[in-house]
Amino acid sequence: MKTLLRIDASIRRQGSFSRTLGDAFVGEWKHRHPQGEVLTRDIGQEPLPHLSDEVANAFFTGARELQVLALSNLLCDELKQASEILITCPMYNFGIPSTLKAWFDQVVRANETFRRDGYQYEGLLHNKTVYIIMAMGDGRTGLRTTENFEYYLTDTLAFMGIHDVRIVTVGGTATRSFTDGWQATYQQSISQLLNN
Ligand SMILES: Cc1cc2nc3c(=O)[nH]c(=O)nc-3n(C[C@H](O)[C@H](O)[C@H](O)COP(=O)(O)O)c2cc1C
Repeated sequence: MKTLLRIDASIRRQGSFSRTLGDAFVGEWKHRHPQGEVLTRDIGQEPLPHLSDEVANAFFTGARELQVLALSNLLCDELKQASEILITCPMYNFGIPSTLKAWFDQVVRANETFRRDGYQYEGLLHNKTVYIIMAMGDGRTGLRTTENFEYYLTDTLAFMGIHDVRIVTVGGTATRSFTDGWQATYQQSISQLLNN
């Protein structure tokens, strides 16, 4: 059975372009996988804590059973359980939302999602696909900021062994009306994302 982990990072509940397309994506995914399970982690509404020294040290030296690792264990287990992952994600101040960075800080973890052997690193997550629906106010294409945003996500996922990363960007949301039928334009992109 397929499992989709959906992670939402927008601080908006209403009027969010990334969440709305995420809903369309999940609708189509469920249609294709009627028996599939969808796990949700809404880090926009329930932000994750920043990494602490205690937690980071426990990543490298502690036993998995340590209480301080409970949140990281939960997030790592969700990620490992999922065959597909959907991240809906706005651009805030030229980067990813800080709560999404906090999520990565909890799951990029030695012996859970990657392994180090001397100077070699090996990702431990295999056969997973990540779909990213990104929304940004700026409508210009070819911006270095957009490339940096995508590089951060693809490089970090690749470090954990996930190389199949598919991205749809909804640009120019600052000048779009939420009610002007914008969604129809992206319905095809959602299907293509799942078809590839
Ligand atoms: C605090 C904040 C910072 C933002 N920074 C940027 C930015 O650096 N570049 C950009 O293109 N849009 C920026 N935006 C606009 C959002 O990316 C845009 O509103 C997007 O649609 C938000 O995603 P959502 O519609 O899913 O909530 C910012 C919005 C907020 C609230």
